[in-house]
Amino acid sequence: MLVLGLESSCDETAAAVIEDGRRVLSDVVTSQFEVHAPFGGVVPELASRAHVVNVIPVLRAALERAGVTLDDIGGVAVTQGPGLVGALLVALQTGKALAYARGLPFVGVHHLEGHLSAVYLDDEPPPFPHLALVVSGGHTSLVRVDDHGVHVELGATRDDAAGEAFDKVAKLLGLGYPGGVVIDRLSKTGDPGAVKFPRAMTAKHTGDDFSYSGLKTAVLNHVRQHGVPQGQALADLCASFQATVVEVLVRKTRKAVRREQLTHVQVCGGVAANSCLRAEMRKAGEEDGFRVYVPPPRRCTDNAAMIAAAGYYRLIRGERSGLALNAMAGLPLPGIRA
Ligand code: KG4
Ligand code: ZN
Repeated sequence: MLVLGLESSCDETAAAVIEDGRRVLSDVVTSQFEVHAPFGGVVPELASRAHVVNVIPVLRAALERAGVTLDDIGGVAVTQGPGLVGALLVALQTGKALAYARGLPFVGVHHLEGHLSAVYLDDEPPPFPHLALVVSGGHTSLVRVDDHGVHVELGATRDDAAGEAFDKVAKLLGLGYPGGVVIDRLSKTGDPGAVKFPRAMTAKHTGDDFSYSGLKTAVLNHVRQHGVPQGQALADLCASFQATVVEVLVRKTRKAVRREQLTHVQVCGGVAANSCLRAEMRKAGEEDGFRVYVPPPRRCTDNAAMIAAAGYYRLIRGERSGLALNAMAGLPLPGIRA
């Protein structure tokens, strides 16, 4: 069964075709980097307009690269939320129109379930149950995944998401947008021990929750005191900030995996592309005896293959969304068990 996935929740317009929930036939992502870069962040109205311009060419490219036509598609999966409503609506309406015109089964997908499903496209996906650390621009959560679409959210950020912290700190340091990848690159030549930042929410009673707004403020205070660093000092500051974020993510994952008595951990979402997080989580896995699964970097950031993968498992269970399905800015992760 071929599933067409569509995604436009933020600043990437994406379309993909996957076969039987496993094999990626095409995976096309158009970034709006140039549109938003002058503003230092995503401008929602500009994002919506760019999605409108991009969605059909991206869809055509996905079909072409897969070597298929709409006649071959067996189902359509589209991100329903969370995200920017105007942006979400573009892929959602496109998917609904296609499904209606072609009489295809259609399903709306939660964006985080998409991130959680990217790993199922890898050669050796994690078995169930496993622990998932979801780290993106909008979310930082620890989730126990009991089956496809069956989740227990163990903890989440109480304020900023990890990716948001990367982006805000990058903006503060004049590194532009999006900032995570720039901080990752600069950190490679920096000293992670150069500046000591607080590790928030690491005390016992904080459970599996996270907090990143204090760290952001600590970087701001450092810059107020010392000015925006240049050269080696900039690399050192980036490395110190990144090491702090990663240390807390890894420490909390270790604690949760031990308590939940799990042996498989996946890391997903845009921040899972971070080279330091990938390396440190693998090291922790080796030390503590859990296996770590991280999708390739391009499938950590937003893409439609992950949406098609999540949609595939819902479609084969017989799930269908009505054509009245609306885009949702906020949407709880489905399949949550208390
Ligand atoms: O999952 P994603 O593409 O979009 C959301 O669902 O939010 O995640 C985007 C986030 C941004 O905050 C971006 O700065 C961050 O992922 N990111 C990274 C890296 N690549 C992307 N953060 C740290 N290191 C990276 N290499
Ligand atoms: Zn995302």
